Amino acid sequence: MPNNTNNILLIGPMGSGKTSVARLLANNLDKKFLDTDEEIMKKTGVDIAYIFDMEGEEGFRKRECLALKECLADNNMVLSTGGGIVLSKENRNILKDRGTVVYLQTSISSQVERTASSNNRPLLKNKDAEETLEKLMLTRGPLYEEIADITIMTDNKSLQEMSKEIQREINEY
Ligand code: S3P
Repeated sequence: MPNNTNNILLIGPMGSGKTSVARLLANNLDKKFLDTDEEIMKKTGVDIAYIFDMEGEEGFRKRECLALKECLADNNMVLSTGGGIVLSKENRNILKDRGTVVYLQTSISSQVERTASSNNRPLLKNKDAEETLEKLMLTRGPLYEEIADITIMTDNKSLQEMSKEIQREINEY
């Protein structure tokens, strides 16, 4: 979806590499890097797991929607979003409107591998990661696809390869 914001908006599941790729891409393209989870942590002074503990997923989602709107008040950025941002229709509309949406498609096994060392992902805490990520993908996969302008498969690719591929696709878009 062409628009004149110059924003690149990364969506995809936990463990797809959104934050690392967004940071690199922003650097390569001389754009500002933002991340909705980081903005929430900066604003609240606590980590995401603590927000889930205190306010549940519902409280977190409200903060996430607000963070998305605040981030996207600006232009010329690469924005990394939380894996569940697409659950809200409002968020999906905002994303579609405010930039080129890039979906980092990732197999469940890569997601499991990349999230294994993290202890700040409350939805995976004390759960079987593979089963949980599979379940999440069943609901969220179609939502990522619904708003993606560009889809990149991330399995077995380095951050630099992903970043270059996104740059290429955006130039052709
Ligand atoms: C979530 C993904 C996380 C974070 C929160 C919820 C999700 O972000 O927003 O733990 O619902 O998939 P990452 O996708 O960056 O891990």
